[in-house]
Amino acid sequence: RYERRWMVLTAVTLAVLFVAVMGSVLGAGIQVPGIDGQVDPRALASTPPFDRPGLRELGPGRYEATIVAFIWAYSPNEIRVPAGSTVTFTLTSRDVVHGFRILDTPVNTMVIPGQVARVTHTFTRPDTYLFVCHEYCGVNHHTMYGRIIVE
Ligand code: CUA
Repeated sequence: RYERRWMVLTAVTLAVLFVAVMGSVLGAGIQVPGIDGQVDPRALASTPPFDRPGLRELGPGRYEATIVAFIWAYSPNEIRVPAGSTVTFTLTSRDVVHGFRILDTPVNTMVIPGQVARVTHTFTRPDTYLFVCHEYCGVNHHTMYGRIIVE
């Protein structure tokens, strides 16, 4: 009688733990810094905004830069904005995990296939800012970079 009760209690406890663990695993997918939504990496060509990568003006001094990362480049790999612009970068990967770090700025995010990364930065000083992939993504990882020209 008691054994049976203990078995049921153990099963219930395990079930509760399982649900709690699954909940935190699923939640963690969204808690990666900068990650903001999901996208099918096989359907980027027909999924806005990734169907038209590039720079779009949202309002005075505000831009969205949509960038697709793939082995071993970014599309586009050059962006030109006026000094003082606030740029929201919306990124995803077509294949493997990449990174997106803009040197001399705090911008630093992972670019994961299936996930949308979004980071915003205001470029006050005219300069050329390099952005680089900082997640090892294969033999030509070190050639994966682009530039933001602030003029
Ligand atoms: Cu892409 Cu390293």
